[in-house]
Amino acid sequence: MNKPVLIVGGGMITHDQILPAIYKMQRAGAVGEITICAQHHKTIKALAEAPAILKAFPGQSFRAFPEHFAGGPQPDLYKTLIEELPPRSIVIVALPDQLHFSATMEALRHDQHVICVKPLVLTARESLEIDREAKQRGLFVGVEYHKRFDDRAHKARQFYRDGRLGEFRLGTARLMEKWYYRESNFQNWCTCDNTDCFTYIGCHYVDLVHFITGLRPVAVSNYGIVDTYPNGNKGYLWCDTRVRWSNDAVLNLQTTLCYPNEGPGPNTQGMTLYCGGGTGAMLDHSDQYRGLGYTFSKKSDAPGATYYSEPSPDYFQYNDLGGPGLEPVGYGVRSVEFMVNTIYKLDAGETTLADIDAKSIIATPANSLYNELVVEAGRVSILNGGREVTIAYEPEPKVTLT
Ligand SMILES: NC(=O)c1ccc[n+]([C@@H]2O[C@H](COP(=O)([O-])OP(=O)(O)OC[C@H]3O[C@@H](n4cnc5c(N)ncnc54)[C@H](O)[C@@H]3O)[C@@H](O)[C@H]2O)c1
Repeated sequence: MNKPVLIVGGGMITHDQILPAIYKMQRAGAVGEITICAQHHKTIKALAEAPAILKAFPGQSFRAFPEHFAGGPQPDLYKTLIEELPPRSIVIVALPDQLHFSATMEALRHDQHVICVKPLVLTARESLEIDREAKQRGLFVGVEYHKRFDDRAHKARQFYRDGRLGEFRLGTARLMEKWYYRESNFQNWCTCDNTDCFTYIGCHYVDLVHFITGLRPVAVSNYGIVDTYPNGNKGYLWCDTRVRWSNDAVLNLQTTLCYPNEGPGPNTQGMTLYCGGGTGAMLDHSDQYRGLGYTFSKKSDAPGATYYSEPSPDYFQYNDLGGPGLEPVGYGVRSVEFMVNTIYKLDAGETTLADIDAKSIIATPANSLYNELVVEAGRVSILNGGREVTIAYEPEPKVTLT
């Protein structure tokens, strides 16, 4: 039977990646009814009417909640929708970072498989609790780190694990989103008390370094500069973070909402790792500039649109393959498809939770606890002016301000 899918959260990531990937699977007959729940009717209405999605998926629709304007936000409505799902359906959590824990636990307690956008949760304790609950019930929890499905990550992983890239010693990475993000819904939740730029986007590169090298982070120093959003809220919108690894290697990571609106491409991002061994080795990925450059005769209506653009066709794009509609492709789509297909394999007895954890292709609470420890350490550090916070894995996972 095709599983129903409930997506909780109707914001940017749902529009840009999650819904197109799930619609594609529905069109192929691989998932059943789709329901999406936001807090506000206006959010879900905008998603249902989004021109790019209507054009790509003619004739498809989802059950949209809140159905009507109810006088204010409806933060608990998704819980009712979870209750109504048949057991072992799929809940995709696409909420602001600090709400992932409660929504994931709610879904697990109602016997639902969960796919959660990154970062899973903000503390190791929460991740362990999620893992316990999921294992007891034989349910899948996958964290949607889509960079793991970028082919270049697999190339690097294979080279590294074959010994051709030596041993990682020093690295730099950056992920900077455009300035206009400050005007979006981010100003309501990406605030100093909840999260910061490192937690929000830096976790991608921490996860990627582990995915490629297998090393574990052991200390984090996260220095943030506070800036003011248009609505007056304050956020750590400029972060400089040092992550030390189990072999003493160091990754310096800069994350911001500062990439100029007029900069080409939707963001700037990339990673360089300098490695020891042989005559020296090095990995250098430009994750934003993928070799394409266009100068348009006019700007599109999209926020942050520019005359000159360097788009990435690798994360997500719609291809015209003759219809119906358009075909979403890219590692953002592959990531969601891979997780949904893994859920089907689990329920068909073709794989086990232990096998999924051990293979480590999908980040799970059990095999990527280092991500939660880094996020937890990063939060303690940033709230203490960037002081180093160490991470211990045994005898029990914990972070300590030094
Ligand atoms: N590169 C990536 O992997 C990537 C990119 C963007 C976002 N994300 C992650 O996705 C999550 C959401 O980010 P976004 O960009 O979509 O943010 P967003 O602000 O655009 O959307 C968040 C949505 O959640 C909804 N929401 C909040 N509380 C709710 C509740 N109680 N019930 C139902 N809906 C509720 C809001 O109404 C909004 O529609 C974040 O955790 C973020 O870190 C990941």
